[in-house]
Amino acid sequence: MAIMSGIRACVFDAYGTLFDVHSAVQRHRSRLGSRADSVSAQWRTKQLEYTWLRSLMGRYTGFDQVTAEALDFVLDANEVNNPELRADLLEAYRVLDCYPEVPTVLAALRSAGMKVAILSNGTSATLETAAESAGLRDSLDQILSVDALAVYKPDPRVYQLAVDSLGVPRESILFHSSNGWDAAGAATFGFRVAWINRSGQPRERLPDAPTVELTSLESVPELVGI
Ligand code: LAC
Repeated sequence: MAIMSGIRACVFDAYGTLFDVHSAVQRHRSRLGSRADSVSAQWRTKQLEYTWLRSLMGRYTGFDQVTAEALDFVLDANEVNNPELRADLLEAYRVLDCYPEVPTVLAALRSAGMKVAILSNGTSATLETAAESAGLRDSLDQILSVDALAVYKPDPRVYQLAVDSLGVPRESILFHSSNGWDAAGAATFGFRVAWINRSGQPRERLPDAPTVELTSLESVPELVGI
């Protein structure tokens, strides 16, 4: 693998990249029966649509509320009326599983002197809980939330937050996201970008392609020369 030189900070999207968003429904799948996978996919899609729409409408609210409102829409659309299940799904969403390679990769990057951070749509409090429960907190220099800006990705101000908070120029930051649209937003901003294409998605037809495409985070330390 060709080494990407000059990287001083590795910044990670949270949901879908470090944390498996489908692990919430997975824990309660028997209660949704054959609809489980479809409900999980619809929930994620609706959640993202609401972030984009709220940003365009100038009506920001925190990601916890967006996540709950998206779930309410999807349960309604699937005619699931079960307040206990709703509460359990939202609780599970706060403590999602991380992908198996994540703890080792983040620890390796940090111990080699790389700055390591999360840059996410999630609220600060929820991201702290998620990182703590997945055992990642000690491998992170910073957890950066869009909450500070009241606008969602892919607004360029979100990516600028990482530059300002880490004190590292944009071209020295490698941003990682499994979300193709987030990878495009970060590339347009001027980060170098690793698209972590975990689910074999086709490339996005959006401006600015990612620098590299990987199927997991496993080879990231090697990529940055560690
Ligand atoms: C995030 C969403 C985009 O963590 O996955 O920012």
